[in-house]
Amino acid sequence: MGVNKKTAIITGSGSGIGAGIAKKLAQNGANVVVLDLSKQGAEETARDIINNGGKAIAVQADITSWPEINAAVEETLHVFGTIDILVNNAGAIKDSSILKMSEQDWDLVLDTCLKGSWHCCKAVLGYMRSQNFGRVVNITSRAWLGNPGQSNYSSAKAGIVGLTMSLALEFASYGITVNIVAPGFIEAPMARRLPLETQQKVINAQPIKRPGRIEDVANAVLFFCDDETNYITGQILYVDGGRHVV
Ligand SMILES: NC(=O)c1ccc[n+]([C@@H]2O[C@H](COP(=O)([O-])OP(=O)(O)OC[C@H]3O[C@@H](n4cnc5c(N)ncnc54)[C@H](O)[C@@H]3O)[C@@H](O)[C@H]2O)c1
Repeated sequence: MGVNKKTAIITGSGSGIGAGIAKKLAQNGANVVVLDLSKQGAEETARDIINNGGKAIAVQADITSWPEINAAVEETLHVFGTIDILVNNAGAIKDSSILKMSEQDWDLVLDTCLKGSWHCCKAVLGYMRSQNFGRVVNITSRAWLGNPGQSNYSSAKAGIVGLTMSLALEFASYGITVNIVAPGFIEAPMARRLPLETQQKVINAQPIKRPGRIEDVANAVLFFCDDETNYITGQILYVDGGRHVV
């Protein structure tokens, strides 16, 4: 039941939503691999978990690099002996109108959000299949439905939806579920980097007129990671104050 004694890799857990997910899974008994591009961020989250009685290691890795992700998976197996849960949370934004967007900004966001998630899935799914159990949770965004100024980000997050649905089908018979959590505006660094006026506009457009909490997203991820959530796959759970309905 739950995630007790399961091993979870959470990408981008050196800050924001990822750190919240890592702490939530650790509080529920999981061994946590805090994977981030930022060594300092990863170490801070891992230290915090350990200081609160949990089990965690910090792993610095770039999800856009296949060798680095493979090495991170090897290290996880070496330390904890198993991989049961993968949360693809790391992401990046580089917003602008398509008319001003550079190819570099397109590539950075697509490589981080989409290719990075694909790398991590590819690196763990063989192992999960061999143990006939796995939970993959991909963090997209309500923005996959489209957002002006985010043609790169919306495309990458929509790509994650396709990736999730394909893998849900490919691995359903191996005890592996693959699901999506799609946050709207969450009180976390990515949203807080937007101009204040834009932040207010987004919140005003939501049926529930407050920013979401990191805890709201972490609870949704925990639900999909649970041992017992074994008949739910290929699902999108919006954590967006109802914004996707508007
Ligand atoms: N904050 C929001 O309102 C919001 C809304 C919808 C979706 N999201 C999604 O939630 C996730 C987390 O967002 P956040 O607000 O916590 O952002 P954040 O910027 O605080 O966290 C992103 C983390 O990913 C790490 N990262 C970036 N590139 C990486 C790479 N190549 N390899 C490894 N790690 C890398 C960063 O170092 C950082 O720690 C993202 O996928 C984002 O798209 C956020």
